[in-house]
Amino acid sequence: MITATGRHIDPEDPVWILNQYRAAEVHGAGAIMRMARLADTAKLRSDLSRHLRDEAVHAWLWTRAIEDFGGEVVEVAQPYQARLSAHFGIPKTLTDMLALTLVSEKRGLSEYELHVGQEDLPHAVRRPLRAIIRDEAWHVSYIEEALRERAREDRRVYDIIERAEQADVQAVAELEAEAATADR
Ligand SMILES: [Fe+2]
Ligand SMILES: [Fe+2]
Repeated sequence: MITATGRHIDPEDPVWILNQYRAAEVHGAGAIMRMARLADTAKLRSDLSRHLRDEAVHAWLWTRAIEDFGGEVVEVAQPYQARLSAHFGIPKTLTDMLALTLVSEKRGLSEYELHVGQEDLPHAVRRPLRAIIRDEAWHVSYIEEALRERAREDRRVYDIIERAEQADVQAVAELEAEAATADR
């Protein structure tokens, strides 16, 4: 997702942003599915199953909202995800994937939180947004916990998290710089 920070959603025509939301959720579901194959504890397998269910439900909620607004579901580019992986490199381990998921879940959550505060947001967007935000907050917290757990065995986990955080900051800085030039 990750649009220019603070972008105002057109209450008459939210289809563009809803397609961004939907594409991000579909991408998230795919990433969780790939990561689930590497899960090494029963707890993580269980949490990732629930997480996968959530992202698929979110993708469906946005699909339904797009159709309710008379819009069409389209595939959209994922510039944030592309830049995040470009800066981090190819994730090789479960810890790499968890760290990348943590930063992108946090980004997604903060973007949703920013948008949910918009006063003239249509009800048909705000309602699913509120429900989704609750799930996203859980995603961030269980992944953080899973990483903390892994860090108890290996302190280098914190370096990997830091590398993912840096990749996230760089990705967003580039997107914002690009948006600023486009707006001029
Ligand atoms: Fe989601
Ligand atoms: Fe999520």
